[in-house]
Amino acid sequence: MAETEKDPKESTAHPRKPEDEPFVVPVLPLQNTTLFPETMVPLSVGRPGSMAAVEAALAHEEKQLACISVRPDRVSDGDAKPEDLFEVGTLVMIKRMERVEDTLHLIVQGVDRIELVAWEQQEQSMRARVRVLPPLTVKDKETVEATKRNVQSLIQQALAYLPQVPPEVRMIVLSADDPVRLAYFLGSILSLGVDKEQQMLEANTVDDLLHLAHDFLAREVEIIRLRSKIANEAQTEMDKAQRDYVLRQQMKAIQKELGEDESGEQAEAGQLRERLAKADLPDEVRKEAERELSRMEKLPAMAPDYHVIRTYLDFILELPWKTSSADMLDLNEAQKILDEDHYDIQDVKERILEFLAVIKLRPDAKSPILCFVGAPGVGKTSLGRSIGRAMGRKFERLSLGGVRDEAELRGHRRTYVGAMPGRIIQSIRRAGVNNPVMMLDEIDKLGADYRGDPAAALLEILDPEQNNSFTDHYLDLPFDLSKVFFIATANQLGPIPPPLRDRMDIIQLSGYSDREKLQIAKRYLVPRQVRENGLTAEQLEIADSAILEVATVYTREAGVRQLERNIGRMARKVALKIAQGQTEKVSVDAAAVKDYLGAPRFFPEAARKELPAGVSTGMAWTEMGGEILFIEANLLPGGRGFTITGQLGEVMQESARAAQSYLWAHAQEFGISSHMFKEYGVHLHVPAGAIPKDGPSAGVTITAALASLYTGRRVRPDTSMTGEITLSGLVFPVGGIKEKVLAAHRAGIHRIILPARNEADLKDIPDDVRKELEIVPVTRIHEVVEAALEKFISNPPPPVEDDARPARRPPEPEPEGQPLIARER
Ligand SMILES: Nc1ncnc2c1ncn2[C@@H]1O[C@H](COP(=O)(O)OP(=O)(O)OP(=O)(O)O)[C@@H](O)[C@H]1O
Ligand SMILES: [Mg+2]
Repeated sequence: MAETEKDPKESTAHPRKPEDEPFVVPVLPLQNTTLFPETMVPLSVGRPGSMAAVEAALAHEEKQLACISVRPDRVSDGDAKPEDLFEVGTLVMIKRMERVEDTLHLIVQGVDRIELVAWEQQEQSMRARVRVLPPLTVKDKETVEATKRNVQSLIQQALAYLPQVPPEVRMIVLSADDPVRLAYFLGSILSLGVDKEQQMLEANTVDDLLHLAHDFLAREVEIIRLRSKIANEAQTEMDKAQRDYVLRQQMKAIQKELGEDESGEQAEAGQLRERLAKADLPDEVRKEAERELSRMEKLPAMAPDYHVIRTYLDFILELPWKTSSADMLDLNEAQKILDEDHYDIQDVKERILEFLAVIKLRPDAKSPILCFVGAPGVGKTSLGRSIGRAMGRKFERLSLGGVRDEAELRGHRRTYVGAMPGRIIQSIRRAGVNNPVMMLDEIDKLGADYRGDPAAALLEILDPEQNNSFTDHYLDLPFDLSKVFFIATANQLGPIPPPLRDRMDIIQLSGYSDREKLQIAKRYLVPRQVRENGLTAEQLEIADSAILEVATVYTREAGVRQLERNIGRMARKVALKIAQGQTEKVSVDAAAVKDYLGAPRFFPEAARKELPAGVSTGMAWTEMGGEILFIEANLLPGGRGFTITGQLGEVMQESARAAQSYLWAHAQEFGISSHMFKEYGVHLHVPAGAIPKDGPSAGVTITAALASLYTGRRVRPDTSMTGEITLSGLVFPVGGIKEKVLAAHRAGIHRIILPARNEADLKDIPDDVRKELEIVPVTRIHEVVEAALEKFISNPPPPVEDDARPARRPPEPEPEGQPLIARER
């Protein structure tokens, strides 16, 4: 209707008051909004024309301004022109003004409705002659009251849907009593659009105004109600899958936005899914893998966890959860392979064949857990390898030497940065089957410290009752190790914790005699070294005497490792000569060895031709095999007590004291004056002092040395001995007989005194050695003294006062007269 009201005089039926005379004010065009009287609103003004209008208003005392809306279809970027505006607006008073850069921020108070009368001459701003419109009239009081209540109830409804409306605003709307004010307030806050707002502004009666307000508000309330209903429904209807889908889409959109390679990682996840589908996995493992995979799919490739999970899944997929290799169950073939790789050690080979036979009859039989114990180079590791070959199984070796951290065996939890599976599971993966022969090399060199005891982890691994669900920390899933054939190796049994020792079948591999070494060298070591150095059997021939020479004076070992190394050195030198064209073929004999290997390195303790009284020959077991040793004793005139030197351990010192006490207690039987013990001190020494020695097995040797010292009868130089003694005069068995006997034989001894109960151990001695030896089994110290000492006194002990002993001085015998056993060499 405003558009039609060209003539102000005809536009309204209300009578004019005198103050309603038209007057000129600056005009501020409003874009996209309408201002109502009785409201206070903030305005921002930036266009040059509008700013000029504000300045013009401020220049005037009343600071009045006509705010008239621009017709919605005429809104533009530039300054509005008079014809773009409606004809009814609001006269406002500027309450406050602030200039921020190029913008004026105003707070204005709507005062009166105005009506355009005529446009004035345009200056910098628009100016118009306007007239104040009369107050709104009431047509029907009841209708007004009823509509007002309806409006208020609508407001209540609307507020119920709009929890975000601040409480102050709620108070104002609900307490507004003046219907006109209420309507204008609603008009200013509802964002109805300029058209509807203008309609309200132009209403001339309260009835009309409230009616409009009610209609508009009702529509708004309906919209609000619908929106919240839709939102509710959307929320309940979207089930989990849909939500995940939406979230995933959103995530992809975000990743795309971040420029992350979507296709690459999708392909990766796809591949993993495919592999997972094909892999033969236990249910539990599959479930876990699928869980991890879907977790990975939700992560961007950049996330650190993404790679952790991918590596983990890769690992799981590579593990042979259900893959086993077929055992080769041809016992003859297995025997052939074992013999092919190793000389002799029949008992070990038999043990392996027995196990194969059991598996053949009962495929689900538990694997034994073997432990090979022996000196370095006796073939423990290579035997394990050979067992793998004989059974047709994969062979995996893991060295436990120096492993101190339990996590090395069992892995780190995946929550650690750089976590890795433990060595056990890693070697299973390398093997690619779940039944390899797994060699736990050097189990006696395991360490333990604050990082946990790796031996404890081994206890579980080697327990047939538990190892079918071995849990690696990294894997965090049980893996069945029960099909693995474990073989441990150790140089010594001592350092292996007893519970661990208990779980294993201990198999002792003793050292080799020279003759055995010769056979091993001829059959295995020489051919191998010849081959490895590019020679043929015709080009290099090594005589048996040369091999024995190397074995005896160039090496000192129970095994054959140094022997093989020296043969290798010779082979290389020969290869050089042949390659240089100096010769076509070489044969090496004992005399030629030093041309290749230089001067001999070792001078093994050899049996002495003659021993003074107080010295005896014993045998010791060492990690390197066996050795002979000499025990020397001296009387100290006027001295006191018992001095012991030569790095003897406590047990050995105690045997020395026991030996002396026994001789003292039985002095008469041995023909010793008891004054000897009171008037002379004794110094006992065991040379090779740099090597610590301990153990009870030198008991008889010490006894023989002391008996010789006190009686003056020398110990036979062709005899060596071993055995533990007791204070009651018995001789107890000791260990390491094979090594000791071989060492004695090597040293040129041919008579050996040993505990009768050790006689059974002699079966390990190769026949050729055995038949060169006279063995004297003993059960009592008296027999030791009888067998060890010469019958006559050659070095009479010094006289003692009050000697009760009859002077006994047999004639000096001819040394040749003694019954020495000739070596049958
Ligand atoms: N009975 C044997 N027959 C043939 N070769 C042997 C025999 N014993 C040992 N060897 C050879 O000796 C070498 C050393 O053996 P290996 O490495 O197995 O010793 P080891 O007992 O494991 O020693 P370490 O305790 O030092 O580990 C190997 O080349 C092996 O083939
Ligand atoms: Mg080894």
